[in-house]
Amino acid sequence: MIEFLTSDELAAVRAPSERSAWLPARCYTDPAFYELERERVFRRSWVAVGRTEQVAEPGDYFSLDLFEEPLIIVRDKGGTIRALSNVCPHRWMLLVGHAEDAPYEVKPGPCGNRKSFQCPFHLWSFDLDGKLIGAPGMEEAEDFDKAEWGLPQFQVEEWRGFIFVNLDHEAAPLTPQLESLEPFVDAYELDRLRMLEPLEYECDWNWKISVEAGSESYHHLGLHKDILEEWMPAAMSDIEPVRGPYSLYRNPTADGSPMPELFPAPPNLSERQRGCLKLVTIFPYTMFFMSPEHTAYLQLIPESHDRHRLRYIPLVHPNIDEHPESGEIEKLLRMTLDQVHQQDMAGGASCWKGAQSRVARPGRRSHLELQLWQFHNWLLDRIEKD
Ligand code: FES
Ligand SMILES: [Fe+2]
Repeated sequence: MIEFLTSDELAAVRAPSERSAWLPARCYTDPAFYELERERVFRRSWVAVGRTEQVAEPGDYFSLDLFEEPLIIVRDKGGTIRALSNVCPHRWMLLVGHAEDAPYEVKPGPCGNRKSFQCPFHLWSFDLDGKLIGAPGMEEAEDFDKAEWGLPQFQVEEWRGFIFVNLDHEAAPLTPQLESLEPFVDAYELDRLRMLEPLEYECDWNWKISVEAGSESYHHLGLHKDILEEWMPAAMSDIEPVRGPYSLYRNPTADGSPMPELFPAPPNLSERQRGCLKLVTIFPYTMFFMSPEHTAYLQLIPESHDRHRLRYIPLVHPNIDEHPESGEIEKLLRMTLDQVHQQDMAGGASCWKGAQSRVARPGRRSHLELQLWQFHNWLLDRIEKD
């Protein structure tokens, strides 16, 4: 039982989807609920932190803070991607992230390339696989065994070109949990896609509001009525009734005609796949929307109960390089994604204002929001597991 919700509120979310209600507004507005999410959900779940192309070669690395855990994502000399602690085990100085290091940026290619990581404070150094390989001035420390002072490491997995990290050492591996998703993504060749310059958004509202808008097309009816509804009607959402750590649905075009292909899509896509957008959310917040020749990867970075950042990263099939005007196509793609997302930004800000109201009660759910019933129940499962 979650102390935060009454048994009636819990039962309403847990009810079969046709009878279920939304999460109460204070699950969005109360910092205490966000604390629960951070400890029981974020720090125990698989979250995508980037793409393998960012660490394509041995020594390529980038650093980031994941829920107050400073990390280095690096490809070691043997080719394995690792999630190393960025905290020196001597007196906790950060190994990378100083003035001479490239700041963390999501961009094609690595943020830097190193042969090893040396702490700037007292010059202990670490191999790319985290082993301590040098500790000057430690000759007289008794029973000091270098083998015991390597960098702590976290679980990391590659899946279809995404790098997923889980801060929980006990967490079950991700890839087997996504097995049932494989047939839906297979033909899109996700692992071959490459990143374009991301679009960046600062969102002053709860992270779930953005995940929810990114996981259903019901709001095409209203929020995107001028851009999307006629072309991809909300009512045609074709939702998979999965009960795994993800949601998935297809949004076919109104007349079944193929989506526009600005350059050749992967050859193995079926006719049906060419005529729809497929939207996947791997819970809690890794979202990607697959069109025939590109995928929009929405990287969410929660910061507090009322703030997160979104990086909207277009991933394109390498076939784009065959197009004589690939630069123009990239611009057009970014512009279109931004145009739609600006409407979602306005929607997010408005729902956030409404969520503060004392009379905001948990709404009822449309059948076009089944994915969010899956999401809310997954979330409560995690939170209930103390
Ligand atoms: S803090 Fe890193 S070597 Fe001392
Ligand atoms: Fe939207």
